Amino acid sequence: MKNRITQLFNIKYPIALGGMAGVTDARLAAAVSEAGGLGTIAAATESAESLATEIRRLRDITKLPFAVNIPLMAPQAKDLIQVVMESMVPVVITAAGSPAVFTAALKQAGSRVMHVIPCVDAAKKAEGAGVDAVIAEGFESGGFASPFEIGTLALIPLVVDAVRIPVLAAGGVVDARGYAACRILGAEGISVGTAFLATVECTKIGSAWREQILSGRDVSTKILARGIAPVRMLANRWAEELEKLISAGVTKKEIMNFIFSGDPMSSEDGPFACGQGVGLIQRIRTVKEIMEDFVTGSEELLKRMATGD
Ligand SMILES: Cc1cc2nc3c(=O)[nH]c(=O)nc-3n(C[C@H](O)[C@H](O)[C@H](O)COP(=O)(O)O)c2cc1C
Repeated sequence: MKNRITQLFNIKYPIALGGMAGVTDARLAAAVSEAGGLGTIAAATESAESLATEIRRLRDITKLPFAVNIPLMAPQAKDLIQVVMESMVPVVITAAGSPAVFTAALKQAGSRVMHVIPCVDAAKKAEGAGVDAVIAEGFESGGFASPFEIGTLALIPLVVDAVRIPVLAAGGVVDARGYAACRILGAEGISVGTAFLATVECTKIGSAWREQILSGRDVSTKILARGIAPVRMLANRWAEELEKLISAGVTKKEIMNFIFSGDPMSSEDGPFACGQGVGLIQRIRTVKEIMEDFVTGSEELLKRMATGD
């Protein structure tokens, strides 16, 4: 298929891997790119050196386009931006900060730029800053959340109506139904996190996180640290501990330290970010299987809708 997103990024399908700190490494990103999407290396917990290494590692696996995700609030963000510019990364996905600061420089260096936004005003600001596309991230998403709490179903058409640049939808998209729904809402593509956690190629999470994803259901995630540093995580024993700490009045810094304190590779409970769509995940699949489900499954659904089946 061809649309503005596939043409902008030179990819087969308008499906991106959402950057997931400490999880979306070169291997997982390359698998998504090889399957026709846009694989994303998450840089949030990388140093400049380790990010440069991951980028080289990805380029050893695939020659296809890929992205690097940089939350601009990360203390080392400036160094990471320098690395992506020097490495001529095809697509940079910025988040959590102002797109006005680095977009022009990144585009000058030859990268396409997307910015993650949670509301219409932020989408307009990103468009004004010159980004090529926005990722509109609904409240269903795993990871840090916006205080506005706008769900994907309302957010996508609102953003699509407000900007001229293409919009990717994120948050709660796990299967062909979610993908087709987002396309109908006007998104020209999707950015998916949680669904790709349960893949053969996702090797950065341990048995505890994996098992909790596979046994997850509709009520298995929770927004924690509301009003301080809202984050959607699995509602496990660890989440209860954080809630106790918050009631005891710990500082934002202590909360952030606690969120990042766990070992993702552990076989024990930990601070595991995860989206509301987790209940739809039944088994570990390959990245290719997930991509095929999105692409062929949504085509079938849309055909069935058109014929009234
Ligand atoms: C474990 C985890 C880590 C994440 N880390 C980041 C990150 O480092 N940077 C970022 O911009 N978004 C991050 N996100 C959000 C994802 O990029 C993506 O937007 C989100 O997962 C989409 O919603 P979904 O989980 O319902 O698919 C993270 C999400 C998860 C589940």
